[in-house]
Amino acid sequence: MKPSLTILTGASRGMGLAMARQLLQPGHTLLTLSRTPNHSLSADASAAGATLVQWSVDLADASAVAARLSAWLAAQPQGAFAAATLINNAGVIPRIGPLQDADAADLAHALRVGLEAPMR
Ligand SMILES: NC(=O)c1ccc[n+]([C@@H]2O[C@H](COP(=O)([O-])OP(=O)(O)OC[C@H]3O[C@@H](n4cnc5c(N)ncnc54)[C@H](OP(=O)(O)O)[C@@H]3O)[C@@H](O)[C@H]2O)c1
Repeated sequence: MKPSLTILTGASRGMGLAMARQLLQPGHTLLTLSRTPNHSLSADASAAGATLVQWSVDLADASAVAARLSAWLAAQPQGAFAAATLINNAGVIPRIGPLQDADAADLAHALRVGLEAPMR
């Protein structure tokens, strides 16, 4: 079977980490985007025979990440992957409370990571 590529945001912990572990399949490639790499995932990838590429990126700076991803994809050999899948899992939940008490910067950051970054 031709290898596939999965790009997964927020793989350093939580649900993203659980998905990453399942996506580490022999011969397939997983590219993860989180601020913090997860070292246990590297060992899991070696054991599974999967290719793991972990980037330490801040999705609040979506345009820089989009540019880096675009360049990386362009550098892959043509036809290297049968399919490419993007899983936008990363997100932050702003402090929960009445909207009138919400911190504008906190809300903006959550929207940047959860809404703007996937749209880039
Ligand atoms: N758990 C819940 O009850 C719940 C409820 C509703 C929605 N959700 C959503 O479901 C998704 C997964 O939830 P979870 O509980 O597994 O979340 P989590 O444990 O808080 O993990 C969030 C992931 O997103 C990454 N992330 C956060 N900010 C980032 C940034 N600026 N740049 C890059 N990566 C960033 C984190 O990595 P780094 O910190 O290493 O960057 C981490 O890997 C999230 O989008 C969350 O908002 C969860």
